[in-house]
This record gives sequence, C-alpha cells and structure tokens, in this order.
Amino acid sequence: AIDITKLRSQTGYITLDDGYGNTGACESAITYIDGEKGILRYRGYPIEELAENSRFTDVAYLLLHGELPNIDQLTQFSTQLNESSIIHEDMHHFFNGFPRGSHPMGILATMVASLSTFYPVPDQLDTATEIQIVANLISQVRTIAAFSYKKSIGEPLVYPSYKLKYVRNFLTMMFASPVRDYQLDDDIVRAIDMFLILHADHEQNCSTSSVRTAGSSLANVYAVASSGIAALWGPRHGGANQEVISMLEQIHAEGGDGTEFINQAKDKNSSSRLMGFGHRVYKNFDPRALVLKKHCDKLLNKPGMNDPLFDIARRLEEIALNDDYFISRKLYPNVDFYSGLILRAAGIPTNMFTVLFAMGRMPGWLAHWREMIHGETVTIYRPRQIYVGEPLRHYKNTIPR
Ligand code: ACO
Repeated sequence: AIDITKLRSQTGYITLDDGYGNTGACESAITYIDGEKGILRYRGYPIEELAENSRFTDVAYLLLHGELPNIDQLTQFSTQLNESSIIHEDMHHFFNGFPRGSHPMGILATMVASLSTFYPVPDQLDTATEIQIVANLISQVRTIAAFSYKKSIGEPLVYPSYKLKYVRNFLTMMFASPVRDYQLDDDIVRAIDMFLILHADHEQNCSTSSVRTAGSSLANVYAVASSGIAALWGPRHGGANQEVISMLEQIHAEGGDGTEFINQAKDKNSSSRLMGFGHRVYKNFDPRALVLKKHCDKLLNKPGMNDPLFDIARRLEEIALNDDYFISRKLYPNVDFYSGLILRAAGIPTNMFTVLFAMGRMPGWLAHWREMIHGETVTIYRPRQIYVGEPLRHYKNTIPR
C-alpha cells in the first residue's frame, strides 16, 4: 500500500492549497473585492456608482485602460468596436459545419479560437495592434454569439450595424428577422447593459485564472480568450443563472408554488439547494444582486410579462428572505438569481445565458491579459503538486515479446 504520509513528508517545501483558495497568483490593479463587506470595485470605482452612471463600453474602456474615457476617447473606442464587428465572411461557413443542437458555448469557444487564423497576431505587439485585437474580441464575440443563435433556429444572419450601440446591436442581431417585427425596448437594453457591466470582471475567478494561465505561455490571444470561454462554460462557474431557470421550470412542471422546494432545500437529507442563493465570496450580500434586483423588478412589472416562472421566483425570494434557515446562514439572492430572470424576460434562450456572460467578461479577461503581458516579468504559471502515486518500482515484463 502507498504510504501517503511518508510521501508527503518527502515532497519538500511545497505549499498545498487545493484550488488556490488562499494563494495569490499575481498582483493586480483591476478589481477589488471584499466578500465580507459586500464590496466590488473596478479600478477603484464602486460597482454601484458605475452601474448608476456608465454604460458597458465605458466600463470596458475603464477595465482596459485604468481610467474612465472622456467623450473623445469613448467615441473613438465605440467607433473601433463598430468597425471591428464584422467577422471575416469565410468564417460563416464554419457555422454550417456544427451539428444541429450544438451548445452555443462550444460554438463560441471554437469560433473565438479560430479568429486567430483570420486575424494573425504579430510576434511583436505595438499598442495600436494590441488595442485593435482587444476591439476585435470584444466586438466579434457579440457577433459570433448572435450568429450562433440565428444558426441554431435556422434563421438568416442579421449583420452588425455601425449605427447601433453595443447592446442594441447585439439584440438586433439576435432578434430582428424578415418574418417578425422587432422593437428594441429601452428597459431591456438597459438591463442587459447592466448585466454586462456587473459581469465584466471579478478578479481571479476560474475563467480569468485560465486566461492568465494560458496567456502566461504567451499563447495567441484569441486562443487565450477561448480558454476563458471554456472555463466559464462549467455549471460551477458561468452556468449558475441557467440553473435558476431550470429550478423554476422544475417547480412549475411539478405544479408547485415554491414552498415545497424551499422545504427540500432546507432538508439536510436532500441534495437540493435553492439555486441563486448564497455565494462563496460574498458572505453578507452580493452587491451586484442589489443593483440587478432594481432592473429585474422593473422588467418583471412591465405589462405583458406574464410568465408563471416569475411568480414562482417572487415567491421563493419572499419566503427565503423571511425564513430563519436562510437568514441565519446569510443566504441572500445572488447576482445569478436576478440575472436569470432578466435574461428570460429579455427573451434570451436559456442555453445562451453563459454566452452573454462571456460577452460581459471579455473586457475583464483582456484587461488581465494586458496587465500580465505588460508586467515587469511574465512568469509562466506553473504550480507544483504533492505527488501521491506509487513510489519507485522497477519494470516487470508482463507481456511476452
Ligand atoms: N440552499 C440551501 N442551503 C444552502 C444554500 C442554498 N442555496 N447555500 C448554502 N446552504 C447551506 C449549506 O447547506 C450550509 O448549511 P449548514 O451550515 O447547515 O451545513 C450553509 O448554508 C453554508 O453553506 P456552504 O456550502 O458552506 O456555503 P458555501 O459558501 O460553501 O457555498 C454556494 C456557496 C456554493 C454558492 C452555495 O450557497 C450554493 O450552492 N448556492 C446555490 C448555487 C448558486 O446559486 N451558485 C451560484 C453562486 S456564484 C458563486 O458562488 C461563484
């Protein structure tokens, strides 16, 4: 038998920190979080102030450059985003090659990585080229997202328009159609913009760490961005708001109003959890959830928003906020609870939720990539391990040769 204790004692001076929960992997000046106090700041600005006063493109600029843009800088950045929004026409063939029903995150990761073949990155990057690449990624991830949806429903692609701003352009590419009227709704536009702002960065989360890890080898930046998308895809990271809708659908399908589900979630013999409640980092409240709740309430109260899932969500929220089990454990609704409802109210299909998260997170990933490649030294990410396998043993010939 392997003596793990003995092996561990022979490993020397390696710190074991599973999942790096207590290990800082870098210094960063981008995002500050205090989970106990419910604080989130981008480049020093509280998320509440950014949410109140800015738009997603301002926040993207802030994350990338460290300062809020003035009007000229914003105009230049927005123009560059619009001019970069078309993907090479030959890439359209790729969409036809994916099987029907392909997950849009699989398509997104593949298409973003393949941008590297259409937009070659020079070995030596000057600032202008670097900013052009960043603009390509922020803008084209949106075009690819909308095209993959259109392909999945078999409708003709709607090309980006240089006349429309970021979110309006995206929603139009998603929902405009030769066979349907589509009117942009200002409240939906603002709520989606808010969703993107609130997801734009969250320091060293799983996907950002993947971006830094892949980027530290100085890999092609489009492939690096694709590694962030791959990590985000998982249900334990980007998929949580999708889980909220699945839970509401399950409650609805079983004919319940949420009361029984709450009882199950409190039962320690059951594996159910109230999705969209609790957070690993924010232990008292999730500042993003407070901002998003206002937009969510506004959308759900609009005339015509008659969705039984929204009634169940309201009931779950009301019961949980007044229930000792949730209060004593400080289990408040998190950002995913409200974002799931907002995306559904906006008509975004559930399997596209994580794709929108990737659009929001792209400026954060790229800000971390830039911060890293411009660091004093770019140390390749190369964690160690504690080996717990077999000790030395000698080859025994078990196959007659
Ligand atoms: N429903 C019911 N009970 C819960 C829930 C929940 N959503 N979340 C935590 N609890 C209970 C736990 O059972 C535990 O109870 P106990 O003290 O009686 O044993 C107590 O609250 C503390 O729970 P932990 O698991 O220690 O909390 P942790 O910080 O590890 O987990 C997590 C946080 C994973 C987010 C959890 O709250 C959860 O599963 N929430 C639902 C899923 C969800 O919305 N995830 C998205 C969050 S985004 C993010 O965290 C990155």
